[in-house]
Amino acid sequence: MVYSFYHITDVHYYSKRNFACDYRTFPQPSTQICILKSEEAFIKALEIIKADEDTNTVIITGDLTNHGEGYSHEEVRDLLQKFTDEGGNPFVYTDNHDYPYFEVYGFDENGEKVRTEHLPEEEVKAMYHPFGRGKAFDTFDDGITYIAEILPGLYHIAMGYDYVKDAGIKSPTFSDELMAWVKAHVEKAKKKGAIVTCSTHRPIIAPSPAYEVVGKGHTFSDGEKRMKELADMGVRLFFSGHSHVQCMREVVSEKRNKIYSVQTSSLAGFPPKMRKITIDTDNGTVDIRTIDIDLPDLGMTFTEYARKGFLGIIEEIPYNMEHDVKAFANTQGGISLPKDLIMKHPKTVMFLGRKLNGLTYGKLAKFSKKYHNLKESDYANAKNKKFVDLLLELIANLYRGNAPYSPDTVEYKITMGSIRKIEKLLSVLRVDIKKSLGGYTLSEFVEPLLYNSGLDDDNVTLSIN
Ligand SMILES: [Fe+2]
Ligand SMILES: [Fe+2]
Repeated sequence: MVYSFYHITDVHYYSKRNFACDYRTFPQPSTQICILKSEEAFIKALEIIKADEDTNTVIITGDLTNHGEGYSHEEVRDLLQKFTDEGGNPFVYTDNHDYPYFEVYGFDENGEKVRTEHLPEEEVKAMYHPFGRGKAFDTFDDGITYIAEILPGLYHIAMGYDYVKDAGIKSPTFSDELMAWVKAHVEKAKKKGAIVTCSTHRPIIAPSPAYEVVGKGHTFSDGEKRMKELADMGVRLFFSGHSHVQCMREVVSEKRNKIYSVQTSSLAGFPPKMRKITIDTDNGTVDIRTIDIDLPDLGMTFTEYARKGFLGIIEEIPYNMEHDVKAFANTQGGISLPKDLIMKHPKTVMFLGRKLNGLTYGKLAKFSKKYHNLKESDYANAKNKKFVDLLLELIANLYRGNAPYSPDTVEYKITMGSIRKIEKLLSVLRVDIKKSLGGYTLSEFVEPLLYNSGLDDDNVTLSIN
């Protein structure tokens, strides 16, 4: 049997009705979500599925709206209804951005942000009921958990989660009761010869050490353990979103059973992507293909547009440090530095900015000479390249997956050489940086941002035998 379906997540739809001003002249905001284009991205994604002769089925794993605005919910529901009326087969659920946990805002006639109304939680749940739990053949508690036959012989379990507090940090977790419920369903399904896939909104395992640190509390506290349990039950694919990271990872249980974590980036974030999954039970393979969402009339690809919004403020930081300390203070250095602290030391900030902007591969290569085997002629082409550009790319790589600098590149050798020298200096100074990096060394933290040594994050064929 061959089963095909799509995975979309973090639609973050923002209704144009939230603008009292002319949204067409509204500048692209520097945010992680392209609020001006999220409608177009969602419509485009649904059109791609409608045009696909293999399948009309899609799972959408939460964060349907930007911040849970009433207008946004109404339009997402209407689009799902239209999609369904035209033969589409969606399976959705909601998560944190669909409820008023964040500031619910619109823009007034002058383009100023104003608070707007949100919908009560029960009303939101009822709106999406026909496109999720309403199609289930069993549900667990009154949260989001359900099991549905999304294609004849293919079951999908949408798993809700609880929270657990560990060392003061609240993280998601699956209860033992839920795991037992899942196990009972997987066993019944196996007897019928059906396949079971699972999903939850939040990342069950961290896509990278860097995400584990910056996304503390967002990743499951017991994800690895739960993945192994699911693998031993016979589940091979687990989908999630929330992190906005494009990532494929595998987990192998002690009994040598494999399960794959499929994390797809936000449809309206950076990079804007969706996936098509094809399970072939005769060959024992799963083929995963990524589709980059593209939109017309942007003067650039939608991925470039999304990158600009995402890195907007961050990209100005090095310039502002050197040339406009006030602007640097206003954006709090991009990492919530205290404004008055920055304004108290403008000369230091300018000095550091000058040093950072003046840093080239050539200078770094000299700094870390003993830690790489490069001759000056090896990096002649990269000698005058600014290191600050690579730094920005590393931030982007955290989200886009498939970091491109393999160990044979000059960029890899010089950066990792410098990291190793910094590690050496820190150990001489007896500074333990591991504590602030979630137990990882600086090398382990940085390397995945340069180079993907694991499964291809976009397109891959997996064995599920
Ligand atoms: Fe999200
Ligand atoms: Fe989320």
